Amino acid sequence: TAATVAAAPEDPLFGLMKAYREDPSDKKVDLGIGAYRDNNAKPWILPVVKKADDAIHKDPSLNHEYLSIGGLPDFTSAAQKLIVGATSPAIQEKRICSLQTISGTGAVHLGGLFLSKFHPQKPTIYLSNPTWANHNQIFTNVGLSLANYPYFSKETKGLDFNGMLQALRAAPNGSIILLHACAHNPTGVDPSQDQWREIAAVMRERQHFPFFDTAYQGFASGDLVRDSWAIRYFVEQGFELCVAQSFAKNFGLYGERTGAFHFVSAPGADASTANSHIASQLAILQRSEISNPPAYGARIASRVLNDPTLFAEWEDDLRTMSGRIQEMRRGLRKRLEAKGTPGSWDHITSQIGMFSFTGLSEAQVKILRDKWHVYMTKNGRISMAGLNTNNLDYFAEAVDSVVRE
Ligand code: LMR
Repeated sequence: TAATVAAAPEDPLFGLMKAYREDPSDKKVDLGIGAYRDNNAKPWILPVVKKADDAIHKDPSLNHEYLSIGGLPDFTSAAQKLIVGATSPAIQEKRICSLQTISGTGAVHLGGLFLSKFHPQKPTIYLSNPTWANHNQIFTNVGLSLANYPYFSKETKGLDFNGMLQALRAAPNGSIILLHACAHNPTGVDPSQDQWREIAAVMRERQHFPFFDTAYQGFASGDLVRDSWAIRYFVEQGFELCVAQSFAKNFGLYGERTGAFHFVSAPGADASTANSHIASQLAILQRSEISNPPAYGARIASRVLNDPTLFAEWEDDLRTMSGRIQEMRRGLRKRLEAKGTPGSWDHITSQIGMFSFTGLSEAQVKILRDKWHVYMTKNGRISMAGLNTNNLDYFAEAVDSVVRE
């Protein structure tokens, strides 16, 4: 067998991270992976996470036993409330089942696997063009067929709303549509609330199934409720849908793999029974894949989510992160405009969340890396969190230079 296995290419994002680490230049700038950095380009442990962590270490009731297959119940119930709102009828009517997962990736995978096995038509899943690169791999791995819908307009560097709606209308009835709930990765472009309403109307008409991916709640607007508006709206509209939820970015728990998968059944007399059947099948899938999820990150998140004082501190930490990112957006735009760098740069401040889709070409990205030691993905995406008051001038100078080249 060994001889028949061809070498696979390195993962582009993790390859980029490695290349950055190995670059000896003291000027180097890491704008690759979507992970928050403080103004000194260092990882940031959220103060509220540190507090919860300290409390866990002192808690004599904790041990290293297995969690249940579905994870820590205090965590999954709080994660559910964070997404749909504590007073949502979907919770009261027991129409949501939730399992703790290996962060957002695990949730996307579990949802994909479930739909691939249990959806009677095994429909095509439509992904935004572009989308998070891993979506393609994960859904291919579980045997779903993939298609794209237009999303980003190169001209306006904003949403190609008409293109998106047309594609949703043209997709076969009952398709699965992957939607980024907020702070779209990689473009930083989200539909407005009115646009979400229209998207929902088309999806209702075509009986499409919404599959929400939410990895940046609290990062788009700094407001957790506003950042879950689209999901809440679809739930209120009575859709059957699912949600893959990551706590990697908003808690800074990247390596702890903390996330949840939620399946929301449509309202109806049998909804709660149907939902419990779905929960039982998801549990079997989870058991065969990871047996049960890891406890540590979920314990931290659960403490914060279930304690009003800690929750308020978490909101402060989120505002610290999203506020610094917004400051960097304004700073970058201001510098490029002051230099008269060819092109328009207002998209830097109109795009939101962790990323900006700069519009730089693959060739320009390569020069930035080879000549300026600036690392970003080939599609011109930059992680805004990699910018800080120490490297903003340097980065603006680098961009100005490659754009004029
Ligand atoms: C990113 O897109 O940079 C993040 O979501 C990290 C990842 O796992 O790809």
